[in-house]
Amino acid sequence: MEYISLGRTGLRVSRIGLGAWQFTEAWGLTDYRAAKAVIERAITNGVNFFDTAMLYGLGMSEVFLGRALREIGVKRDEVVVSTKIPGEFLNPSDIYKSIEKSLANLGLSYVDILLAHWPPCWHNFPTCEYARALEKLVELGKVSYLGLSDYPVELVESFRQCLARHDVHVLQLRYNLVERHAEKQHIPYAEKNNMTVQAWSPIAKGALTGKYEPGSLRFEDIRSREPLFHPDNYSKVWRLVELLREIGSKYGKKPVQVALNWLIMSSPVVVPIPGAKRPEQVDELVGATGWRLSYSDWRLLEEESRRIEISYSVFYREKEVAI
Ligand SMILES: NC(=O)c1ccc[n+]([C@@H]2O[C@H](COP(=O)([O-])OP(=O)(O)OC[C@H]3O[C@@H](n4cnc5c(N)ncnc54)[C@H](OP(=O)(O)O)[C@@H]3O)[C@@H](O)[C@H]2O)c1
Repeated sequence: MEYISLGRTGLRVSRIGLGAWQFTEAWGLTDYRAAKAVIERAITNGVNFFDTAMLYGLGMSEVFLGRALREIGVKRDEVVVSTKIPGEFLNPSDIYKSIEKSLANLGLSYVDILLAHWPPCWHNFPTCEYARALEKLVELGKVSYLGLSDYPVELVESFRQCLARHDVHVLQLRYNLVERHAEKQHIPYAEKNNMTVQAWSPIAKGALTGKYEPGSLRFEDIRSREPLFHPDNYSKVWRLVELLREIGSKYGKKPVQVALNWLIMSSPVVVPIPGAKRPEQVDELVGATGWRLSYSDWRLLEEESRRIEISYSVFYREKEVAI
């Protein structure tokens, strides 16, 4: 496993982390033992960076992650755990309540990184009010560092201006070979400000693995309404998957490993946090580190993927609904 510095924190994190959203009903993995096997395999492979959120399974993901890390016998300073507080909880009293629940769920006395999961778009909470409350959690030792997930850069700036003694060290963003909007503003901003970018959906919810043949797509989970898997988009994704497969065969690597390798080559601050449902998947994910694509293969993917435009309005009805 490769390791890099996390923002300006001094912490060292594995070049690939593990997302824990999978341990929820949304992804159909609700058996603790199955989740523990995934987490254990990640630890064995040198992964020390784990991402969860208060809303994942309404605490189930945090509980599974915390319990597994304890049972595996990992020491507290051997792992870096990020969790996220939803935008709806970002008024000070809910912030103070929620962090207690989150720490109880995780079985930890502090969390390494607390991110706002998304901005508080429904409740009009003033940015500086919740920014200062989050900063208070750092002052009081409940949280080591702050981060922001799915925030526009302008709001990241405003949030940072509100802080007195601390700063934002991590941005968490959707970023994968076919969804590259983060490159336009966020990644250059993170590079300039020495922040780490946790790339979520780094393998496009499994679309970049090549195991889902077009025409036979049927999901019982969160992906049943995922635009990426709509035929209008997936036909474009699939052409890229074929290229991933072709390139991978030169290196003895699977499409998923090539896709992740391209991602870590895209910027020194990007740390993908893929999710996994089985230990064997973890083995493959970590096999994306320790080697690099050649410049010409990197460029081929760069150019091919740039031609893909994913449409997010594909489920919007075209005809009037019969009533
Ligand atoms: N901040 C945010 O708003 C936000 C949003 C989404 C996610 N996240 C974070 O990012 C993490 C990952 O993103 P994601 O959940 O969207 O999905 P992802 O990592 O892009 O895809 C994960 C899925 O791909 C499949 N997979 C994993 N490894 C594989 C392998 N080696 N071979 C074949 N298939 C494999 C698995 O599903 P199947 O086996 O069922 O195909 C797995 O559930 C989450 O766990 C969460 O921590 C954050």
